Amino acid sequence: MKRIACILILQLASLAVFAQNYDESKVPHYTLPDVLKTSAGKTIRNKEKWEKLRRPEVLKLFEDNVYGQLPTDYDSIRYALSEDDHPEMDGKAVLKQVGITVFRKGTPVQIDVVLFVPAQPKKPVPVFLLINNRGKENTDPTRATRSEFWPAEMVIDSGFAIAAFHVSDLAPDNKDTYATGLLQKLYPEQLKKDNGMKAIGAWAWGASRVMDYFETDKDIDAKKVIVVGHSRGGKTSLWAAAQDQRFAACVTNCSGNTGAALARRQFGERISRINATFPHWFNNNYKKYNDRENALPVDQHMLIALIAPRPVYATNASKDLWADPKGTFLAMKAAEPVYALYGIKPELPNDQPGIDVPVIGPHFGYHNREGEHNMTAYDWANFIRFARKF
Ligand code: GCU
Repeated sequence: MKRIACILILQLASLAVFAQNYDESKVPHYTLPDVLKTSAGKTIRNKEKWEKLRRPEVLKLFEDNVYGQLPTDYDSIRYALSEDDHPEMDGKAVLKQVGITVFRKGTPVQIDVVLFVPAQPKKPVPVFLLINNRGKENTDPTRATRSEFWPAEMVIDSGFAIAAFHVSDLAPDNKDTYATGLLQKLYPEQLKKDNGMKAIGAWAWGASRVMDYFETDKDIDAKKVIVVGHSRGGKTSLWAAAQDQRFAACVTNCSGNTGAALARRQFGERISRINATFPHWFNNNYKKYNDRENALPVDQHMLIALIAPRPVYATNASKDLWADPKGTFLAMKAAEPVYALYGIKPELPNDQPGIDVPVIGPHFGYHNREGEHNMTAYDWANFIRFARKF
């Protein structure tokens, strides 16, 4: 009897800890950290000061408190390209499969990239790079399996190249084995630091190595690489674009908590929950903010601001309240003051647009698709419209 009571109490306690709010009227009053105020209390009024003083500070705050360091050193990088001469997609595309091998202190890590480029492009083309966090069949190079998650035919028909790599090449998405990839092989010292990177950092690092490759591919316009991610992959695409300014634009699809949604709203998924379920995504320090969102020196609008003046497209799905659609829209709005330093006027309306009403400006894109947590042809059609604008 005592044992049953004990179990019940424990279950109730865990329910209380993990109770999620889906009621707008219960969103607590909150004040976002001022993205334009330095830690010394100085207000930033121009882009030069943003870039010199505040941007590095905000980047470091995210590194130290959320995503971890992103090492940029390695000894060498090699690309093994297998390009078949067979025309793909009824002659519209060429398939390139690239094995990227990166060495540090004699140890290699390999990232496999699937890339389709429009056949005989007259000049280097822009490319969408997906950080694939779902099954590899979604990016099937043989096209025997086709998926809306990576609609290669549609992207090629629109004149863009499309590429993908799988997150497991860098870090398995598993709390017990995540360290067996990039971390143990190339950067074991990161595992000892409270601000060391974990899986999401490793995936973002991988996106930058694919960017290194694009800079060597004459078919690709490396100044027009759009990094795309869905959900945990969308948290990663934001962090990759924030860190690596070579990415021309970022698409973050249904990325929710510790992605594009504001943490302080405490709506849907919360930091305590994400850290409990996915302890291998963010650094050790992030655990200090479980149930203490207001103690964080950043919020997610500042992550979007780090990408300025480059374009960002964020999406939600109407039934995916877990990812807080309104909090995502508000984060985009709260990043606008940094874009304003570059003379960019607000492109999004003051209120969240309705369901299936994409708002697409040259710098900000947002939509809330009717339906479930996913990335679909509808989403991609709008990313293509967005990419055409800039
Ligand atoms: C879980 C997790 C989210 C994440 C999502 C996904 O729902 O709680 O934070 O975005 O998985 O990656 O699909």
